[in-house]
Amino acid sequence: ATAPDRPIVLWLSGQECTGCSESLLRADHPTLEHLLLDALSLDYHETLCAAAGHQIEALRKDTVENKKGRYVLVVEGAIPLADNGIYCKIGGRTMIDLVTEAAEGALAIIAIGSCASWGGVAAASPNPTHAVGAPEALKGKTVVTIPGCPPNPHNFIATVLHLLTFGKAPALDDKGRPLFAYGKRVHDHCERRAHFNAGRFAERFGDEGHRQGWCLYKLGCKGPETYANCPSLRFSDGAGGVWPVSVGHPCFGCTEQGVGFSKGIHQLA
Ligand code: SF4
Ligand code: SF4
Ligand code: F3S
Repeated sequence: ATAPDRPIVLWLSGQECTGCSESLLRADHPTLEHLLLDALSLDYHETLCAAAGHQIEALRKDTVENKKGRYVLVVEGAIPLADNGIYCKIGGRTMIDLVTEAAEGALAIIAIGSCASWGGVAAASPNPTHAVGAPEALKGKTVVTIPGCPPNPHNFIATVLHLLTFGKAPALDDKGRPLFAYGKRVHDHCERRAHFNAGRFAERFGDEGHRQGWCLYKLGCKGPETYANCPSLRFSDGAGGVWPVSVGHPCFGCTEQGVGFSKGIHQLA
């Protein structure tokens, strides 16, 4: 049941791998336990709720019907539209039906991850299920997107806290992404940038330049065309934490539709 006085979160999962939830489980400031046990009331989440089956479906129904205007709807995963949405069903209902219904009474809607933002992996060409993200499925509604595969959990938490503190979404770009997190390119704050400027590039994985921490552009880094705060926020452990480029892997553009990784999977036929 909903805890008194705590903002309610209704979390719907569509075509996804649960990696976005897994990423959130590893948040450390604040921890997910603090967020769930002290700050929020997570009424419905298929993986994290103790309830299952009819019990959890009753909770979702109660939230949607009786708590209108009081819950934040979080969407994880893509939403298939082909053949009336039959390729993703939960409790006997299609994801598009559940999302459309829950969006009506939501205080705010957040799409977590690249799948929920524009279709992500599920929408890889030829996209037989016609998977789309929440903004396209819910045209006309404001959907805050937190893309990434998975996204940095702290960007999600900061967005939720902003919504709850100020009663409105933070400033967004034209793709619905909060500017505080997606306003700068990965390339702008990358610790290998001085090597890029000086023309020092790793040419192969494991070569001398790679081991010296030189720029990964020639290994396919998409940092120059990808907007995300990975170099400054990092993953886990804040400033001491790691991010793809710090451990020697080029940025593959996971926050950006049509760049790198997502361009690649959308070209698979
Ligand atoms: Fe999984 Fe990535 Fe989709 Fe999140 S965005 S559900 S991590 S495939
Ligand atoms: Fe830019 Fe990538 Fe080189 Fe970093 S590693 S400076 S993000 S091209
Ligand atoms: Fe994704 Fe590139 Fe950051 S791959 S996690 S946007 S460094």
